[in-house]
Amino acid sequence: MKALVYDGKQAAIRNDVEVRQPGPTEVKVRVTSAGLCHSDLSVIDGVIQWPPPAVLGHEGAGVVDVVGEAVTHVAPGDHVVLHTLAFCGQCKWCNTGRPAYCRKSISNASQPFTVGGEAAWNFAATSCLSEYTVVQGVQCVKVDPELDLSVACLIGCGVLTGIGSVWNRTDLGLGDTCVVFGVGGVGLNVIQAAKVKGAQRIIAVDTVAAKEQAAREFGATDFILAGEGVDVVAKVRDWFPTVIANVVGSFGEGGVDYAFDCVGHPEILNQCLEMLDWGGTAVAVGVPAATATVPARVTNFTHVERTVTGSRAGSHRPHWDIPLIVDAYQRGLIKLDELVSERYPLDDWETAVHDLHEGKLARGVLTVSAP
Ligand SMILES: NC(=O)c1ccc[n+]([C@@H]2O[C@H](COP(=O)([O-])OP(=O)(O)OC[C@H]3O[C@@H](n4cnc5c(N)ncnc54)[C@H](O)[C@@H]3O)[C@@H](O)[C@H]2O)c1
Ligand SMILES: [Zn+2]
Ligand SMILES: [Zn+2]
Repeated sequence: MKALVYDGKQAAIRNDVEVRQPGPTEVKVRVTSAGLCHSDLSVIDGVIQWPPPAVLGHEGAGVVDVVGEAVTHVAPGDHVVLHTLAFCGQCKWCNTGRPAYCRKSISNASQPFTVGGEAAWNFAATSCLSEYTVVQGVQCVKVDPELDLSVACLIGCGVLTGIGSVWNRTDLGLGDTCVVFGVGGVGLNVIQAAKVKGAQRIIAVDTVAAKEQAAREFGATDFILAGEGVDVVAKVRDWFPTVIANVVGSFGEGGVDYAFDCVGHPEILNQCLEMLDWGGTAVAVGVPAATATVPARVTNFTHVERTVTGSRAGSHRPHWDIPLIVDAYQRGLIKLDELVSERYPLDDWETAVHDLHEGKLARGVLTVSAP
């Protein structure tokens, strides 16, 4: 079968890929569509280190092909959205509503594939840039067969991560203000999640001017074009001054309640921290190299109680959040169709990467097998 394989230096389509049959708790899925998330590209360019050879893709949807004997919640023919949390269901974290903390969910790295006869790793427990994949049963969430899988596939990472970063990792609510760095597949979902929660101002920041339109369509009230010589922190502080004029010191005045780094750069995360109001929260969503550190001023924490928090795929509870998102989509509360800028055959994945780098895409979706 055909799949996109990372060999340690680059990625290429291979036609000599096989996947084993599912074990008792696993499901074999025929993948129909998969979004191209920046994290897949980060494996190829070495920002995210992953053992080769590996079958890429982690934001997919498809049709159940074979189920292991212990799997009862899905059956062959069911339409499913895949997600990356291969949680165990048994541990403290699974049983206190935090499957993203389940140690079993951390990538569940294994080698269900062979490439040219050599054992190959899965990626993010999912590997959906492959005509067939084998995942843990809990990673399959059954969806309405009427849903377009080439849209629903995006829920599996970008949508869950963006929406979950707001709904599950913050208390953002009516009247709050926020800044969102990076108007990509993840950032657009942060923007629309903040809008649903009633944020008063949502400021999108991107280095590509053309991103303003999508940002505003998804709910941004303002847009800042970042780039050389643009002091985004100063701009935000200009817009959100404090009315109390006698505050002195290095803490800045005013600021926003929340700031999300959906790019993955330490300097941006620090800017998020610097543009917060007292008590505000910066959320690290984008993923830089594993060695990256943040040069944060400690007084941001000690004197004005700002917080930096993280988001692992929006800390989602898949079997609750995915149906919740589908329902919100069907009720017109959140947009999914508009996230799909372009569909490409799997063979044209490099065109999709090129278009993503050119800033042309909210998301590019790869058609992996016939719907
Ligand atoms: N935490 C998680 O679980 C999780 C899940 C999914 C993706 N991610 C990460 O989130 C990040 C975004 O992913 P994506 O798929 O949305 O990527 P994307 O490529 O679709 O979007 C990134 C956006 O950031 C913009 N950008 C680049 N440099 C910038 C800068 N200096 N200032 C402002 N904007 C800038 C780009 O123009 C683009 O619009 C990546 O680092 C990805 O690995 C994290
Ligand atoms: Zn992703
Ligand atoms: Zn667990």
